[in-house]
Amino acid sequence: AGKLGHQPGCLEMVMNESIRLHPAGGRLKRVCKKTVELNGVTIAEGMVVLIPAFVLHRDPQYWPEPDEFRPERFSKENKEGIDPYTFLPFGAGPRNCIGMRFAHLVVKVAVVVLLQNFSFRPCKDTPIPLVLDSKGFMQPKKPIVLKMVPRAQADPKN
Ligand code: HEM
Repeated sequence: AGKLGHQPGCLEMVMNESIRLHPAGGRLKRVCKKTVELNGVTIAEGMVVLIPAFVLHRDPQYWPEPDEFRPERFSKENKEGIDPYTFLPFGAGPRNCIGMRFAHLVVKVAVVVLLQNFSFRPCKDTPIPLVLDSKGFMQPKKPIVLKMVPRAQADPKN
């Protein structure tokens, strides 16, 4: 986070970019309540529609170089330009996640406490490249094992 260190809200930017690349809910679902025609496609009442959040999060039309980890996409200046329906980590509309603000708070506290005390490094057991499970939740196939180095030792001056 070196270069981002002085940005207001940079932890929020890092969290958003992480969840853009790795949304737990890779697909959202809705049941059509009333038959509609959209761009020549008829969606019948009762039909289940899948919204591919993972795919939308990596569409180069909306996210230049989509596989790159770039928290600046969510900076104060840049985030205004994001179409809210291309970033759906917590869904959208009347049935979106009710725990979003709570989840953001908990993750922020956990990340701050961990990073105040440890640096995280890859080690021989870290699965590289990361392989995601595409069934159900988008989670790693194998647990992400990392080495936790106490900050005092991680500091090159010590
Ligand atoms: C990082 C953590 C979390 C993520 C990524 C997440 C993501 C999601 C997503 C994608 C949905 C579906 C939204 C949609 O279909 O539009 C959802 C629904 C929901 N979430 Fe979360 N969630 C998180 C944490 C939480 C927490 C902490 C709670 C409760 C305290 C919670 C409660 C719910 C509930 C009750 C629903 C169903 C809402 C409904 O169907 O009306 N979530 N969540």
